[in-house]
Amino acid sequence: MSTNSAEKRPKPASSQFGDQIPWKKRKAELKEKQKQWKKAKIIKQLEKQKRQETAERAEQEESQSKKGSRKRTGTCFSGRAFTVSVALPGSVLDNAQSPELRTYLAGQIARACVVFNVDEIVVFDEQGEDVKSVEGEFKGVGKKGHACIQLARILQYMECPQYLRKWFFPVHKDLQYAGLLNPLDSPHHMRIDEESEYREGRVLNKPPKQGKGSLVNCGMRKDVRIDKQLQPDLRVTVKLSKTQNQESRLYKGVVVAPHVPRTEGGLYWGYTVRLASCLSIDAGSVFTESPFKEGYDLTVGTSERGSSVDQATLSPFKHLLVVFGGLQGLEASLDADQNLDVTDPSDLFDLYLNTCPDQGSRTIRTEEAILISMAALRQKITAAFPDDSSSS
Ligand SMILES: C[S@@+](CC[C@H](N)C(=O)[O-])C[C@H]1O[C@@H](n2cnc3c(N)ncnc32)[C@H](O)[C@@H]1O
Repeated sequence: MSTNSAEKRPKPASSQFGDQIPWKKRKAELKEKQKQWKKAKIIKQLEKQKRQETAERAEQEESQSKKGSRKRTGTCFSGRAFTVSVALPGSVLDNAQSPELRTYLAGQIARACVVFNVDEIVVFDEQGEDVKSVEGEFKGVGKKGHACIQLARILQYMECPQYLRKWFFPVHKDLQYAGLLNPLDSPHHMRIDEESEYREGRVLNKPPKQGKGSLVNCGMRKDVRIDKQLQPDLRVTVKLSKTQNQESRLYKGVVVAPHVPRTEGGLYWGYTVRLASCLSIDAGSVFTESPFKEGYDLTVGTSERGSSVDQATLSPFKHLLVVFGGLQGLEASLDADQNLDVTDPSDLFDLYLNTCPDQGSRTIRTEEAILISMAALRQKITAAFPDDSSSS
């Protein structure tokens, strides 16, 4: 019995008359068409699959980068409307025994503030050295004296992205050991090829073409053409255009206010440094010279004699100020303030908190107190803004 099923099929009419060639040809043509059609269908399917995969990958990448930036910055991409300031006396540097240790202490303060997303550090004078500016003659990181200026200078140096430091901080004795400090590694300290919506930059001293904006060095492989003509050597915050022409010699961007990465991008963008001549009410004090129009609307003093942080709640605020004392505590800072009648520091603040109840050491050093207090206050801040994911 034959197994060839083709033999069983009735022969097509044409073949009965012997003209098998055109029929075979038509069949072959048909087969070829079917093959082509199948091929086109598979290609279409593959293209559709590829499109879907690309879209899925893009979605995944977007959500991962958002998660990443949230993880890396400790903030979120929806923007943060409030600010946190920390104030401390410059005299804390005088507790350190050598120029190297003074520098290291300043670095610890910088890192503690960055870890907790502090927007402003106020260095106040509790010894009447009368410092109001970080400009002027620097005598090097000596063993004693000029502590406020030295602390402020090192804090500013640390905050500046590495690629801009050589422009804004020429070699100086005060910064002799600052290069050895642990980096802040904050979101605005970008690597050369790191992608970011915002970057810090320096306006270059290259005359811009007519009708075009200045060129800015943002620490990337190409300079950035901004939308405005600005004075050379200014430090600026640049928002880079979403679409860049990769063939172009320059990137494109616009200049924004330094708070924009925080308020719109939800990124921690470093701190500013302010020197204050005293703690409280004098012109140039921690309280009166606030850079915020409305001033600080919530103030917290810290002391082992304060009430326990565990029971404290923070009311919602726009600008929080947390104040730390030096070796002798905030009482000593008040004593040095000639214009102030207040002797009990708790009268000066909205809250006066012990942030480490049952401490095991007789004294907590100021640099330790910053870490402890900001860690304790972090969850209180989050609780003050229950609907705001950016505070977590
Ligand atoms: C070396 S301590 C000052 C100690 C000083 N004997 C005193 O009586 O305040 C330096 C600063 O760290 C902070 N600090 C120390 N212990 C603290 C605590 N338990 N809670 C909150 N802040 C504390 C305060 O700001 C204090 O002024």
